[in-house]
Amino acid sequence: MTIFVTGGAGFIGSNFVIDWTAASSEPVVNLDKLTYAGNLQNLSQIEGRGRHIFVKGDICDNELLACILQEYKPRAIVNFAAESHVDRSIEGPSEFIETNVVGTFKLLEAAKNYFNGLPDVEKERFRFLHISTDEVYGSLSSSEPAFQENNRYEPNSPYSASKAASDHLVRAYHSTYGLPTLTTNCSNNYGPYQFPEKLIPLCIHNALSGKKLPIYGDGQQIRDWLYVTDHCTAIRRVLESGRLGETYNIGGWNEKANLDVVKALCVILDELRPLNTGSYEDQITFVPDRPGHDRRYAIDASKIERDLGWKPVETFESGLRKTAEWYLANMQWTAAITSGEYRQWVETQYRGGHLG
Ligand code: NAD
Ligand code: TYD
Repeated sequence: MTIFVTGGAGFIGSNFVIDWTAASSEPVVNLDKLTYAGNLQNLSQIEGRGRHIFVKGDICDNELLACILQEYKPRAIVNFAAESHVDRSIEGPSEFIETNVVGTFKLLEAAKNYFNGLPDVEKERFRFLHISTDEVYGSLSSSEPAFQENNRYEPNSPYSASKAASDHLVRAYHSTYGLPTLTTNCSNNYGPYQFPEKLIPLCIHNALSGKKLPIYGDGQQIRDWLYVTDHCTAIRRVLESGRLGETYNIGGWNEKANLDVVKALCVILDELRPLNTGSYEDQITFVPDRPGHDRRYAIDASKIERDLGWKPVETFESGLRKTAEWYLANMQWTAAITSGEYRQWVETQYRGGHLG
């Protein structure tokens, strides 16, 4: 038995692959394009154990997908591959349409062709799990209840619109072709290996470098935060026991305003790496807001808790402390990214070839 993961060199994907190889003897084939956000160093701790097979390539590549499926005959596909940063989607949406929409479509097509050729007993077991976001539901007012699985899709950024489109395709492949799909819609993740363009790792990096901590608008936008390993556990539960064709919301019941998140982080950094004078909070600065900035996300995770018995282990406080500790202990990881050293390595390593 093998599982096939896409985007497994990114933030959540690499945490998932590490988690998977620790908990299961089943090998993982990991297809990743190694965009700016993909980083093989994330997986260095499992290198050489023989249960992780890395393939550098694109989910838009039909031939490569067919080849991987025929060669490894996975019993499940877990699709993490995506362009994931809202600010980048505002600057340049086309990559988001290409990977998130077209790429998911190509992967579904390849999965459908592969699934149709499987013997019945393997068909029974096969799963296509699509990893998505709470951002597809749009923005909540302060008084509205948290998102449930049957909320309307009202995406507001090119990123969330492209993820919404991919979710619809997954749904259609289940309804139309009987592909055994599952979809998860998760809230904001944080934890080790998150690229330092996202709020929490960006603020850790900037704080330690003596730079400003940029807060968009008034900083009162609310996100629901989940520690990444709790997300990985939820994905495993859905893969094991989720009902085919269904979607599951995943969240940590941790609604926080952005300004409060950054202040909480500063308190932890003040304790772990104190400045000679003052607090990291002094570096907070308000900058112009993101266009179309959603005001509030909140996830109602009752369904996965009730039906699949999943619950997050970390509180926001324990998860944030672990995250800060990890970034402090792994400053060379961030330094390699911000210096461009890692990109140079990728270009030299993979000049001209698919397979890693
Ligand atoms: P990420 O940007 O850190 O990683 C994405 C990975 O996908 C990278 O390794 C990248 O190289 C790879 N990739 C991009 N385009 C590809 C392509 N065409 N073919 C193959 N690989 C490609 O993203 P992340 O934060 O780890 O998010 C993973 C998934 O989880 C995404 O689908 C995202 O929408 C979803 N999600 C993220 C969050 C969050 O807070 N980060 C929350 C909910 C859902
Ligand atoms: P981000 O980490 O980009 O995730 P997402 O847009 O997927 O929620 O941003 C989290 C929140 O933090 C979001 O409301 C935007 C805000 N933000 C800032 O205020 N300053 C920043 O520098 C960044 C990157 C984000």
